[in-house]
Amino acid sequence: MKTIGLLSGKGGVGKTTSAVNLAAGLHSLGKQCIIIDGNVTTPNVALHLGSPTNPITLHHVLQGKNSIHEALYRHPSGLYFIPGSLALEDMDKIKFQNFKAIKQLKADYIILDGAAGLGKEALATLEHCDELLIVTNPELPAMTDALKTIRIAEELGKKIKGVIVTRTKKDKLDISLRNIEAMLEKPVIGVIPEDPSIREALSLKESIIYTHPRSNAAQGYLRLAAAISGAQGPEDIKLSWIDKFFKVFKRVPQ
Ligand SMILES: Nc1ncnc2c1ncn2[C@@H]1O[C@H](COP(=O)(O)OP(=O)(O)O)[C@@H](O)[C@H]1O
Ligand SMILES: [Mg+2]
Repeated sequence: MKTIGLLSGKGGVGKTTSAVNLAAGLHSLGKQCIIIDGNVTTPNVALHLGSPTNPITLHHVLQGKNSIHEALYRHPSGLYFIPGSLALEDMDKIKFQNFKAIKQLKADYIILDGAAGLGKEALATLEHCDELLIVTNPELPAMTDALKTIRIAEELGKKIKGVIVTRTKKDKLDISLRNIEAMLEKPVIGVIPEDPSIREALSLKESIIYTHPRSNAAQGYLRLAAAISGAQGPEDIKLSWIDKFFKVFKRVPQ
């Protein structure tokens, strides 16, 4: 079992999108996954999964009112998730040290979606994960914040598995992957292009892996899931005979 935290420093770079779709990708590779919404002030994992309100949430666990197992829900795809509460009053009497309850969970992977910034909630993710993925966009403001997050993680002795670069446009304004690796001194292990299907998947309240499996972003998340789990890649995922037939004619985007 491995707990993987996603942090970025800067907000809005694609952490939650990556947490949901990486978990869905790992699930499609046969791994049991639980996504935890570690973004305590502004949680939105459950919104991505079509389950906005839930009677028991991570907030109740952090308040010491419920066990972590009581806050565990199953998405129809088979993914498990622990949502946050959308109610402002549920922020009362939260104790971040109760985060340690996540150690009682059992799964192949626990994906911990972190908060922006480097405040208490982001540090709780940092403290309670085994490995960290840094999410950034190929532009300077996101990169400088990613670098700060990396420095703090390293000071705390956390292993950084690699960097996910999301919303790439592959034009001359994008910082190149080589320069991102040079600046952050970490390997880029996931590249997710800007893809309108992400918005469509969000409106369908599903992972893009299921709604648009052939889209560039879904393929990027499948490759990332394969890199993390040691599987071979999107080609590794079981295809129906009809998919196999069409695959001969339609190249899977690289
Ligand atoms: N690859 C992508 N292509 C297009 N839009 C994206 C992509 N990744 C994320 N987004 C959009 O960017 C916004 C922020 O993403 P989100 O995952 O919520 O970021 P964070 O969790 O880091 O704040 C959302 O509206 C999301 O739909
Ligand atoms: Mg988020």
